[in-house]
Amino acid sequence: MSDTILSAARRLAAGELVAFPTETVYGLGADARNPAAVAKIFAAKGRPADHPVIVHVASIAALGTWGVSVPAAARGLGQAFWPGPLTLIVKKASFVPDAVTGGQDTVGLRCPSHPVARELLEEFARVGSGAIAAPSANKFGHVSPTTAEHVREEFGLDLFIVDGGECEVGLESTIVDLSRGEPVLLRPGAVSREDIRSVLGKYPRDRDAQAPRASGTLAAHYAPRTALVIVSRADLGEEVRSLTNVAVLALREAPRNALATSWIAASSDPARYAHDLYSNLRRLDASGAKRILVEAPPLTPQWEAVNDRLGRAAAGTAALDDEP
Ligand code: TXA
Ligand code: MG
Repeated sequence: MSDTILSAARRLAAGELVAFPTETVYGLGADARNPAAVAKIFAAKGRPADHPVIVHVASIAALGTWGVSVPAAARGLGQAFWPGPLTLIVKKASFVPDAVTGGQDTVGLRCPSHPVARELLEEFARVGSGAIAAPSANKFGHVSPTTAEHVREEFGLDLFIVDGGECEVGLESTIVDLSRGEPVLLRPGAVSREDIRSVLGKYPRDRDAQAPRASGTLAAHYAPRTALVIVSRADLGEEVRSLTNVAVLALREAPRNALATSWIAASSDPARYAHDLYSNLRRLDASGAKRILVEAPPLTPQWEAVNDRLGRAAAGTAALDDEP
């Protein structure tokens, strides 16, 4: 076990915040049993207090500790995809602090597969509660971090960061709500609808107006600071011949006559595209361009999570444009 992990676990036990890598994105962690520590997450992120945070746990046994009336579907999904990029929402046990659940009667649980996250959870079980409440380690509404450097850009030098390199998945976990009968997909991710169907025998339902509050499910979220617009493949060709000072995230190389300030030709493989997406958005955001143009990826199931995040990033832009 590295000194960094031992030190991170001790800090968590002392009620301090620690950023750590997971296979999806970096998390901003606190002891999930300590409401004062969890409150520090909200203060650091600038996040509204009624938004619940995910509790990261070491094993599927935690479903029975942190959850009550856990349905067979939740256990089935946990057995199939944990450790991995899946968050399960279940009815919460009575001890679960309101600071974690945002006052709701449910709790989101996730058992991450990143080896550094697993070691940290293991060590924190020795010196503390073993459960880490952690949202993505970014300021509220901003793009999630997929490297330690990104976390540093968000929070500066004061935050203790465990560096585990680049996150493999690059997009936040799939969230499935199993607390109200029918399984509901609250957020698409690397564990796909099809993966869920392969375990449950049916597809999860889509989120509706009754869905619980979840910042990752707000339309305007995951937004870079520069205005972002999604354009069709056909329109992109037109736009980059007429617009100056735009940054482009495309699925092909720049045409010779493009006027764009910067141009990233992203992978046409959806997993690779997802892995690079937030890094790419940060680069384009930092390019000084007035607008980010994103070439619309295909509307196929393999691209669902990517299209979801791009849609929210574009909605975030619309919301900013509305400001006086
Ligand atoms: O991949 C991930 O899930 C990353 C890494 C760090 O694990 N975490 C992450 O956390 O994306 P965050 O807070 O940025 O997004 C978690 C989402 C939020 O939209 C939150 O509102 C929702 O999960 N959530 C957490 N607990 C919930 C609950 N009890 N009911 C409904 N939504 C919940
Ligand atoms: Mg987040």
